[in-house]
Amino acid sequence: MFPVNLTFLCLLLVQPFGQIPAFEDGDLKLFESRAITQYIAHEYFDKGTQLVIRDSKKMAILSVWTEVEGQKFDPAASKLTWELGIKPLLGMPTDSAVVEEYEAKLAAVLDVYEARLAQSKYLGGDSFTLADLHHLPTIHYLIGTQSKKLFESRPHVSAWVANITARPAWNKVIAMRS
Ligand SMILES: *[C@@H]1O[C@H](CO)[C@@H](O)[C@H](O)[C@H]1NC(C)=O
Repeated sequence: MFPVNLTFLCLLLVQPFGQIPAFEDGDLKLFESRAITQYIAHEYFDKGTQLVIRDSKKMAILSVWTEVEGQKFDPAASKLTWELGIKPLLGMPTDSAVVEEYEAKLAAVLDVYEARLAQSKYLGGDSFTLADLHHLPTIHYLIGTQSKKLFESRPHVSAWVANITARPAWNKVIAMRS
């Protein structure tokens, strides 16, 4: 049995530009990081933090916000991560027109998050779930760039970012990477 824990689960999400995350558990072979986290969260539901919900209506809401992350947040956040976080490391020039365009897109998404997080402690519901966890890698990059202003200027988003990035499991991931 592969030693799976929350730290590993986070680690799978950390390499948006690296190898495709690949996962094996016995006969099961998976790719796509969000499918891998779903499997681990269900398979290890009784161990550690419960990252999915066994009530179908509550799970449906959680799924809405995991879709929002994948389809609305991530395209803008990943583009900005590339321009502001990765390109400078590779000695490539940042394209400020692209940054401006995608900061506007991310701001529009974060306006929706601000309204959601005013009503709900976490995106998926009352507790930390996959809907929040999937944001950690890109948020980690972006709060080290000029785009951090987009998070800091929205009080509920800012409190949510502070809360999820302070989680001990996430800090273990950061420590393992450096
Ligand atoms: C995050 O929020 C939860 C729920 O309010 C709280 O129990 C926890 O201590 C907070 N964590 C941090 C690091 O602020």
